[in-house]
Amino acid sequence: MVKRFDKKIVLVTGAASGIGRATALAFAAEGAQLVLCDVDVAAVGETTAMARELGAPAEFIRCDVARASDCEAMVARAVDAFGGWMWHSTMPGSTSLRRPLGTSKKWNGSASSPPISQGSFTA
Ligand SMILES: NC(=O)c1ccc[n+]([C@@H]2O[C@H](COP(=O)([O-])OP(=O)(O)OC[C@H]3O[C@@H](n4cnc5c(N)ncnc54)[C@H](O)[C@@H]3O)[C@@H](O)[C@H]2O)c1
Repeated sequence: MVKRFDKKIVLVTGAASGIGRATALAFAAEGAQLVLCDVDVAAVGETTAMARELGAPAEFIRCDVARASDCEAMVARAVDAFGGWMWHSTMPGSTSLRRPLGTSKKWNGSASSPPISQGSFTA
């Protein structure tokens, strides 16, 4: 059976708990590659381990979505790990996230494949 997000690269913020964790695991079950972010680094590490148990390539990074530099680092992690990203799922901080993503120097310069967000989901 074809998985709906097979090899799609997905960023999930607020992935340490609640809707963000559930979203991350749903994407993992559908074949996505994940970059998981939260201010709670221990708990987002747990989510990452759970996603890997489902077979998903998954990385995590501490990110406060209210800080542009953290968002830049999150994007850089996606580019370094997977060559970019195609989807992002935003739990907290939807408005603060968009501008840093769009102005990332890393995003414009070094990806082997275009890290263009093709869709977003916001709780
Ligand atoms: N639109 C809707 O109908 C709807 C319904 C329910 C919840 N929500 C919203 O969805 C969001 C998530 O809800 P939840 O129940 O999963 O909450 P939750 O508290 O279980 O999870 C929120 C996660 O976001 C993380 N977080 C908080 N501030 C952050 C920041 N600045 N940067 C990065 N991570 C941060 C927390 O550490 C936590 O892991 C909330 O903002 C909530 O208001 C919307």
